[in-house]
Amino acid sequence: MRTLLIVGNWKMNKTASEAATFVRQLNQHLPGNSTGIELVIAPPFTALESVRQVLGPTSPIQLGAQDMFWEDHGAYTGEVSAPMLKDLGCRYVIIGHSERRTLFGEQSDGIQKKVRAALKHGLRPILCIGESLIQRDNGSTDDVLTQQLHDSLSGLTGKAMAEVTVAYEPIWAIGTGKSATTEQAVAAHRTIRRVLGAVASSAIADGMRILYGGSVTPQNIESLLASDQVDGALIGGACLQVESFATIAKVASAARPIGV
Ligand code: 13P
Repeated sequence: MRTLLIVGNWKMNKTASEAATFVRQLNQHLPGNSTGIELVIAPPFTALESVRQVLGPTSPIQLGAQDMFWEDHGAYTGEVSAPMLKDLGCRYVIIGHSERRTLFGEQSDGIQKKVRAALKHGLRPILCIGESLIQRDNGSTDDVLTQQLHDSLSGLTGKAMAEVTVAYEPIWAIGTGKSATTEQAVAAHRTIRRVLGAVASSAIADGMRILYGGSVTPQNIESLLASDQVDGALIGGACLQVESFATIAKVASAARPIGV
């Protein structure tokens, strides 16, 4: 059974001090450390250290970053590397988010390099893929997802693939309040798992987590997690308030009790 993974992508929100206050409050809203799910928060780079300080060494909440560069160090003004994120206690890193692709011109070759660099340094990549509304309307969703997966993951060993989490984030659902239906998410996740099976093996694909992202809320998380094809969620807007993020985490814990 794949353990559910709930990731809060804060995007460009919260200063370091706001982040510390948020995490102190979040700790009070979450049940002990036996939630049976994995919980990750991905603050901006500037808040990683303050979040880490508040979480402390034994927190069940893990740290993630929202992006990274593929080189380890050097003359790359403004960039942050995998060793830097590891040193700050990050376990996960989001790669290829559609905002990075559309607003900052990220291309598939760079995304592939980032995935490889993350794996090399023991960071778990959360690879984001998803189609635009035009692509969905013209029936090319499966082709787009297939291409994005091949572009980013081809050539990885099975062992490396097993460390990757894929987040299906249809662009039309991000920040729009218009989530994919459970049926749409499940269909996309089945396609993704089939392609992962072809790139690696079906045994490896079966063990990999596929998250859904795009207007996830405390109201719709239960129905999204009702399918065993949906292994968790990548959450934007709804992770910025303590109560809504904590509610999502609680619903997810109840969705897949430990040992089931
Ligand atoms: P929203 O939950 O705000 O739609 O954002 C989703 C997202 O982009 C998470 O990475």
